[in-house]
Amino acid sequence: MIRLATLILIASTSLAACQSNPHPSLFRDLGGLDGIGHIVDEFMLGLGNDPRIAHHFGQTDPQRFRQKLIEQFCAESGGGCSYSGESMRDAHAGRNISHADFNALVEVLIDAMDKQDIPVAAQNRLLQRLAPMHQDVVTH
Ligand code: HEM
Repeated sequence: MIRLATLILIASTSLAACQSNPHPSLFRDLGGLDGIGHIVDEFMLGLGNDPRIAHHFGQTDPQRFRQKLIEQFCAESGGGCSYSGESMRDAHAGRNISHADFNALVEVLIDAMDKQDIPVAAQNRLLQRLAPMHQDVVTH
């Protein structure tokens, strides 16, 4: 709960310094590329099983989605990947995503990281990186 509250606070204040300078050890603390792959697998499983938001992913190509998420988490954690997917604004345009949907997705991501035994401090750092994307994803 504290983590979710923190995320919402950061989403509304936007920490520019944090966005431009990820801590280099975050990628390591997420378990490198293999660890991120496991987190993303667990995350996608959770999204598909969550009755609040699973319907959003009915038409999703899992292979592409997995690849883009891995690239994005790797890039955001300082792992040196380039994200080759659509901008967050374009990827989510017209998808009718609410604040509640966003919070549900964050809960699923936290759950996936818990299952992979990612330390809470590292979880928070990834969430801080993703939080500002809120403004490009949520439409109501
Ligand atoms: C910080 C939060 C989020 C991040 C980092 C994120 C990340 C991404 C990424 C990387 C893609 C792939 C873009 C591409 O294919 O080029 C994507 C697509 C998508 N996202 Fe998100 N997303 C977020 C929030 C959400 C939320 C809250 C929902 C709905 C509950 C959502 C639903 C979707 C859907 C439906 C797609 C399209 C998948 C497809 O059919 O290919 N996203 N997102």
